[in-house]
Amino acid sequence: MTFVRACGLSELEEDTPKRVELDGTPVSVVLTGGEVFAINDICSHANVSLAEGEVDDCHIECWLHGSRFDLRSGKPDALPATRPVPVYPVKIEGDDVLVSLTQES
Ligand code: FES
Repeated sequence: MTFVRACGLSELEEDTPKRVELDGTPVSVVLTGGEVFAINDICSHANVSLAEGEVDDCHIECWLHGSRFDLRSGKPDALPATRPVPVYPVKIEGDDVLVSLTQES
């Protein structure tokens, strides 16, 4: 599994998604409840950035139509989205947030 640096841990604010591009893939990095998650930044319902949505209870909500995706699994728990969004393993090393795009979970 190859990890690449997404951002600094100190750059993240609790419940405020940070959008980064990793090898051309848009990823939303989210610090919530003291844990860091990485989820593909494109809503599975339409081509909209999830990083512009709100984070609550380990979910990120799409601002356009309100589907909520579980940051642990990428699964939506509210319509209109029916397909999951890829989520990626995260590792913290010092102040570095590392994400592996090679293995979606
Ligand atoms: S674009 Fe995200 S729920 Fe419709």
